[in-house]
Amino acid sequence: MPRYAYVNGQYLPHGRAAIHIEDRGYQFADGIYEVVPVAAGRPVDESQHLDRLERSLSELRIAMPMSRRALELVCHELLRRNGIRDGLIYIQVTRGVAPRNHAFPADASPALVMTTKRMNFTGQAKFTDGVSVITVPDQRWARRDIKTINLLPNCLAKQTATEAGAYEALQVDDEGNVTEGTSSNAWIVTGNGKLITRHLSDDILHGVTRRTILAIAAEEGVDFEERPFTVAEALAANEAFVTSATSFVTPVVRIDGKPVGDGVPGPLAQRLLAWYRDYMAGLRVGA
Ligand SMILES: Cc1ncc(COP(=O)(O)O)c(C=O)c1O
Repeated sequence: MPRYAYVNGQYLPHGRAAIHIEDRGYQFADGIYEVVPVAAGRPVDESQHLDRLERSLSELRIAMPMSRRALELVCHELLRRNGIRDGLIYIQVTRGVAPRNHAFPADASPALVMTTKRMNFTGQAKFTDGVSVITVPDQRWARRDIKTINLLPNCLAKQTATEAGAYEALQVDDEGNVTEGTSSNAWIVTGNGKLITRHLSDDILHGVTRRTILAIAAEEGVDFEERPFTVAEALAANEAFVTSATSFVTPVVRIDGKPVGDGVPGPLAQRLLAWYRDYMAGLRVGA
């Protein structure tokens, strides 16, 4: 367990950190969050994560809890106090504490919580062996571009996956196209080697890892297209994988029990993972 959590201006022992029962995050899921990966003591793509945090807040009309510079300082100080080299920073901002009433309170101040988690990013079987996923109907609201803490549909879908022995659930829209995973963006590589991931819109979270992988693909001359794809297309693809701040590039080797390609991690997914690891380690610039 990490030593400290940051809660509304204080670094508190993690086990004693608490928020008020009338915090609107607790009452209404009225808040947003970010997960920033940390490699070799350095937050990865920190500015892109803080850009998305600012955007999520502004879409919900919640004020920044402190200046951007102050937020960065708290992130770095919490990493230092908890001695994190590899892991993640979790940042949550809610509309604050107010007597329970659906409409926004006139005078609540945003509440800020930050925690860290230590993780070992090497030697995880999911990277070398790949993972199984299932498909489920996408039951979420229409603003999936906002990284809200209202994750109940995602939790239900992930639980369905877990009970099926799968790592992730790919959510499917009413037209039969994959939107994204419950906590990841979804990708395929077609028979002619083209990388495909769904285009940005309100239908999916605008993944920071997705953005970095597309930038790396462009630098490396990998042909790609941002468009929807169906489950049938994913099953007929050469490769599939998911991306996120904590799963990086995780090869998908089975969908609904059927093998993707040869049923082993694909070569492009493995190359993208290696390039992304270099990027995390600061060995690639520009992405
Ligand atoms: C629904 C959803 N899609 C995609 C992602 C991937 O986003 P990122 O690469 O910024 O972690 C996440 C991450 O938690 C997510 O929850």
